[in-house]
Parts: sequence; structure tokens; C-alpha cells
Amino acid sequence: MAIAGSGSATPKVALDNQDLSQIVETSDEWIRTRTGIQQRYVASPEESLAGVAAQAAERAIAMAETTSAEIDLILLATSTPDDLFGSASQIQSLLGASRAVAFDLTAACSGFIFGLVTASQFIRTGVYQNVLLIGADLLSRWTDWSDRRTCVLFGDGAGAVVLQANPERDRLLGFELCSDGTHNQSLNLTYQGKSQPLLKDVSISHGSYYPITMNGKEVYRFAVAKVPEVISKALFRAQLTAEQVDWLLLHQANQRIMDAVAQRLNISSDRAISNLAKYGNTSAASIPLALDETVRQETIQPGDIIAASGFGAGLTWGAAIFQWGR
Ligand code: ACO
Repeated sequence: MAIAGSGSATPKVALDNQDLSQIVETSDEWIRTRTGIQQRYVASPEESLAGVAAQAAERAIAMAETTSAEIDLILLATSTPDDLFGSASQIQSLLGASRAVAFDLTAACSGFIFGLVTASQFIRTGVYQNVLLIGADLLSRWTDWSDRRTCVLFGDGAGAVVLQANPERDRLLGFELCSDGTHNQSLNLTYQGKSQPLLKDVSISHGSYYPITMNGKEVYRFAVAKVPEVISKALFRAQLTAEQVDWLLLHQANQRIMDAVAQRLNISSDRAISNLAKYGNTSAASIPLALDETVRQETIQPGDIIAASGFGAGLTWGAAIFQWGR
């Protein structure tokens, strides 16, 4: 498997920390020092998850020098689809990727890593040659905009990669995926329903979703403990050491988490990719968005070894060690 191209996109409107201080009692100083975030993008009512995701996908397809018609599979990692039945088919239609089968995959902020590994299985078994993997989320739709502990953290965006069969050299060098539902309550976007009677003895639950709830300290502790461990396991599978990694590419949740993980792995900050300041935590989009930005800046070069790790709700976490390029 090879990663032949990347792309990213955001909604049009950006809110900086000063803007947020008009919505909740907070300050630029608090947000910057506790999280590293300076601004984030938020989708307007006219924008859609599928629209932003399709824009990122088009850019990835162009970089891969292929066409939508060549795509066999579209995998959309998201927790915030436009349609609970899934939004991948809508993206397939927007791209005119008529040959592709398309489906959603939900693993919160780990979605891109889980998607990368899922896509690689289809490619390694020879079933599909060209896979479009998108990580996209519009968490602004589900954020409690009166809760300053969470609303300052999240942003909207999309990132995509085109993965291709490459029998001579498999660029996915190692991976490790984990889940632990016993700590599910640390970070939720749960269903809430009211009982609605249908017949004398039959009731159903009818409702919507609660906004995002999070125990920040628990999530922080979980990430700092589990992410270095999962990266080390993936590196072991790749028969590599942390010194051999060119770039550490973590889910962009919080600069303090990213710094602590890099420190535990003994990876210096100039090898740790960070664009969180501009985008906030964009959930499944954060890794491909940061990857695409760094690739387009020509900071990441073909053949560079990247240790990527996603972590978040579920709880889920995982790492993938891969080389950029064909
Ligand atoms: N502005 C100003 N003050 C605030 C804000 C804010 N936005 N948010 C909280 N505070 C206040 C609190 O009310 C509290 O005040 P008090 O002491 O008077 O009660 C004080 O700041 C400290 O609050 P804590 O919640 O203890 O702050 P903490 O130091 O733990 O930092 C943070 C909070 C940044 C959320 C931290 O816990 C963290 O980074 N956790 C990880 C969260 C994360 O990254 N989640 C996403 C990962 S998973 C995923 O991506 C979906």
C-alpha cells in the first residue's frame, strides 16, 4: 500500500479566541496556555460535512494524479455525518465516483487511523486498488456553546488521502489499534430519548443527541499514558525505534498532550507536527489535515517515516507507522 496524495479543507468562517470570549467567559490567554489553540473553523448552516469532505477529497485525488472514476472504495471516518445512515455515499455522488463503494466508519478522533488500517486490509488482499480515505468532522454542530470547558477545544474540518496498491513496497510498516469501552463515559456524544407510547404495551424512545460531554482531566491522563505505549507497540511491529521516525503526527487535541507524548518517546519538538493553533481539535480530520498541510509545505518528503496516532472517544486509540509517498 502507498499513500499517493493528500488534501484538506475547512469551512469558510474562522473564530479566534477573542471571538470565543464574546460567547463564554474565557480569554485568549487561558485557551492558548492550556491548549495551544488560537483559532478554529466553524461550519455555517449552509455548509455540510459531505461538502467540506468532498473538497478535501478532490484535492487528494488531484495530488495522486488519478480521477474519481478510478476510486474503488470511499471510507469516511466521521462522528458527525449529515445523515445518520452515513454520508460517504453522498460524497461518492458529489465526486462522481460512480464505481466506488462508500461507507462510514466511526471511531471518533481515532477514526483516521482505524480507517487507514481498514483500507490497507482491502488493498493488501488485492480486493481494491484505489481507496479514498477521508477524516471529516463538524463538531461545532454538537458542541455545547455555553460550556467553556469544551467549546474552546473543537473545530471543523476535513482531510483526505488516496491509498493505492503498491505490491513492490508496502508503505504501512506497522500498526496497533485499541478500544476500552469501560471508560466510555469520559467523552460522549450520547443519544437522549423520551419515551413515546405507540400502543398500550409498546413504547419507543424518540429523541436527539446530548452535546459533547468530557472529563478533561481523565482524557488528558488517558492520552498521555496510552498514546506513547501504542506508538511503541506499532514501532515494534515495524521493527523500528523512535529515533528512526522522521515525524511524529498526533491527533491534534491539545498541545500539552502532544508535548508530553513526544517527551515520553524522546522525540524532539522539531520532529513533532503541530497545526492545532490554527484549527483546534478537528477530531477524525486532524491527522490528515496536519499531514496534508505539512506535505504541501514540502516539510514531509517522499520516503519519510511518520508515526501517527489517534485517540479519543470510545475510548479508542491507535497508531500507524507509514512512509509518505508511492
Ligand atoms: N476559559 C477560562 N477558564 C476555564 C475554561 C476556559 N475555556 N475552561 C475551564 N476553565 C476553568 C475551570 O472552570 C476551572 O476553574 P476553577 O478552578 O475556578 O473551577 C479552571 O479553569 C481549571 O479547569 P480544569 O478543567 O481543571 O482545567 P485543566 O487544567 O484540566 O484544563 C483542559 C482543561 C484543557 C480541557 C485539559 O483538561 C485537557 O487538555 N484535557 C484533555 C482534553 C482533550 O484534549 N480532549 C480532546 C481529546 S479526545 C478528542 O479529541 C475528542
